[in-house]
Amino acid sequence: MKREPFLLAGTAFHTPERGRLEVLDGHLFEIGADGRIAGILAPEDPQFETKKQLASGSGRLVQLDEGQFLLPGLIDLHIHAPQWPQMGKALDVPLEVWLQKYTFPLEAKFADLDFACEVYSELVDGLLANGTTTALYFATVHAPASLALARICLQKGQRALVGKVVMDDPEQCPDFYRDRDAASAVEETRSFIEAVRELDRSERPLVQPVITPRFIPSCTDEALKGLGDLARRYGCHVQTHCSESDWAKEFVETRCGRSDASSLDGFGLLTRHTILAHSNFIDGQDMDLIQARGAGIAHCPLSNFYFANAVFPLRTALERQMHVGLGTDVSGGYSPSLFDGCRHAMSASRTQQSGVHAHLPPQERGARGEPINHQEAFWLATAGGAEALDLPTGSFRPGHEFDALLLDTRAAASNIGIRQGEDTAEDIFQKIVLNATRANVASVWVSGRKSELRGRPTDPASATALPPLGRAS
Ligand code: GUN
Ligand code: FE
Repeated sequence: MKREPFLLAGTAFHTPERGRLEVLDGHLFEIGADGRIAGILAPEDPQFETKKQLASGSGRLVQLDEGQFLLPGLIDLHIHAPQWPQMGKALDVPLEVWLQKYTFPLEAKFADLDFACEVYSELVDGLLANGTTTALYFATVHAPASLALARICLQKGQRALVGKVVMDDPEQCPDFYRDRDAASAVEETRSFIEAVRELDRSERPLVQPVITPRFIPSCTDEALKGLGDLARRYGCHVQTHCSESDWAKEFVETRCGRSDASSLDGFGLLTRHTILAHSNFIDGQDMDLIQARGAGIAHCPLSNFYFANAVFPLRTALERQMHVGLGTDVSGGYSPSLFDGCRHAMSASRTQQSGVHAHLPPQERGARGEPINHQEAFWLATAGGAEALDLPTGSFRPGHEFDALLLDTRAAASNIGIRQGEDTAEDIFQKIVLNATRANVASVWVSGRKSELRGRPTDPASATALPPLGRAS
């Protein structure tokens, strides 16, 4: 898609490598008509002033104000689109009960295309307003509604990877919500891949299809094998849940006689373009295998506090240079914000490294290694996710997509207080990672296109009358 090229002048923060904050102080960002970053100029560049003035004269300059900063757009590496209406509730039971009691009945409602379009529009607006410029979505078993999600992302300008969920095993999936059989699940996935590719035939598509077996417990071997064949044939992304909880891990080991990661590999589902959600219980051998295939992990710390029974060994995975990013896992995670995701990742990691049993001596209490810091957390939510997906976004460099957000520390309702003359740029970045909310996300661009931020809390036009309350059952 052709857009007007423009220049943006201001200070940017990004973490191009894990743990390394780079402050681009008062730089000039040239955004090309193709939506990519054409150049980044430091103030001492001899062309800086001329280019800036030219752009200003022709009305093509975005000048950041005092207290405003440019950040790379956030990347949600694991989110369930149909669970949006359930976000913030129904977290009182373990995963295997939650699926049957709350989640499958909700997801079944997406057979209704009108309902799906209504929810998915709200969802994409809500995520963009929180600064999520790329999302890796699980949709539902319904191909038409899943395709509608891809279309809505394309219309609203969110980079998205969308999967029609496969769940065909009658032993684990209810009659009212499952694929008819393995053959139709695979065939519908195949035609879904083609339909999404047809939606966006550009060279650098904004929306892409994803092969999405929900997790081994909900799929037959025949379906998993068929999906593995599709992954080889189409080379597209794959996503699933791996070793999330005691129950999920043991279920797979009992049924398959080997670990979740190794079983997925046996079905041909572990590729450079696979994202495994959670993976809390993977061992050293699983890590070797995942790494050898180049697959990535979506760490979902908030959801893990509810469903996982353990904390993902993040420091170990990072030391091994595995591909890891952050997922909100809405609605197993109750927050749509990846800034919250950063905070939860830090809290989980700090708890893991310090340990939790006060009666143990300090040296026996926690895991080895340092807890992750805010630069590492932000890297996970941006460049780490982009590397896992193998997409040119997540940090500012020429040739990368201009996926970015304007963070206004002085927005109404901001929780970020900057002390002039006291806070360094590094302090400000830390304050942003620790306290930014949706209220601070003033503008969002995806592939150089500015998103319309709807339903912002400060926007009086978004206040609508509340519908009647649902009834407790
Ligand atoms: N495992 C299988 N399905 C799901 C899901 O919807 N959410 C989470 N957190 N785990 C799952
Ligand atoms: Fe999930």
